[in-house]
Amino acid sequence: MEHRTLGRAGLRVSVVGLGTGGANVFGQARGAGPDDARTLVRTALDLGVDYFDTAAVYRDSELWLAAALAGVPRNAYILSSKYQPRGPDGALLAPADVEAAIERSLRRLETDVIDVYQVHALKADDYDRVVERHLPVLVRARDAGRIRAIGVTESFAGDDPGHATLARALDDGFFDILMVGYNVLHQTAERDVLPRAAAADIGIVVMAAVRRALASRPALEALVAELMAGGDLAPDAIPDTDPLGWLVHDETTSVQAACYRYVAEHPAVSTVLTGTFSPAHLAENVAAVIQGPLPTKDRDRLRSLFGHLDRGLGR
Ligand SMILES: NC(=O)c1ccc[n+]([C@@H]2O[C@H](COP(=O)([O-])OP(=O)(O)OC[C@H]3O[C@@H](n4cnc5c(N)ncnc54)[C@H](OP(=O)(O)O)[C@@H]3O)[C@@H](O)[C@H]2O)c1
Repeated sequence: MEHRTLGRAGLRVSVVGLGTGGANVFGQARGAGPDDARTLVRTALDLGVDYFDTAAVYRDSELWLAAALAGVPRNAYILSSKYQPRGPDGALLAPADVEAAIERSLRRLETDVIDVYQVHALKADDYDRVVERHLPVLVRARDAGRIRAIGVTESFAGDDPGHATLARALDDGFFDILMVGYNVLHQTAERDVLPRAAAADIGIVVMAAVRRALASRPALEALVAELMAGGDLAPDAIPDTDPLGWLVHDETTSVQAACYRYVAEHPAVSTVLTGTFSPAHLAENVAAVIQGPLPTKDRDRLRSLFGHLDRGLGR
């Protein structure tokens, strides 16, 4: 497994990380149980994956992750979790609520330190108030050793395809780590986020490298038809059926494997989350990423086909 440094926080992380949210929510969306989650986590560790991303709102994911990691030396993995800046009533959390959220995640994760603690899906409209009211709490928790690095994740598709929240974070440099939506159908992070993060030594975690549109052939075929109908893609640019099948050749075993490889290539990226709940897919994705970049001609074709899209596709 390749390891990279996650920005100025200095954490060393595997280039593939395991996400426990997304559509699968650590198997909770498909009737799996904590034993299945443990099998996945143990497979991940065996493959050299040591970055685990969870969140307070991913149902029981924090609890299942803690159970799956029981007995593993704490310095053998990196834990990433998040809190939502607004409560169930829609109101911005008070500073005391943020303190309580940190303590709750620490308890649920059965640890005394969370390596990466993030503001979850922060909207640009909330950015100033979160910096003013919540950031001091997060800094205090970092100073006290309860968290190691402070991060922010964008909401990406739908709400923030233009990376407005991350632009604010790059302007002020308050956050150590950014989680960005980046995939072959939405490459704008290459222009708007990644170079600035690298220059400021801010760590980058990639989410949604596959997500929904790239996870299934019918979904991708429907999206490509929509892009062609809307004039975003020439009608003969790629096949209507299995539109990205041409990525699968030689050592590239699936469209999804190619998608993870594409985003892992960028030098500003430290870890790429995969939200799979399948041990076999996880092994495939790890094998793909550690092969290194896609063949240049495939990567260049993806750029020329989709590089102009900026609407949060691949969500
Ligand atoms: N704002 C935020 O903070 C935020 C938002 C979204 C996500 N996240 C984090 O990012 C993580 C990753 O995002 P995501 O869950 O959308 O994951 P993703 O890795 O982009 O996509 C996961 C989907 O791809 C499929 N897949 C993965 N590998 C495959 C393979 N080799 N072959 C076929 N299908 C494959 C999975 O199905 P199978 O299970 O069948 O493999 C699943 O449906 C989340 O789990 C979460 O931790 C954070």
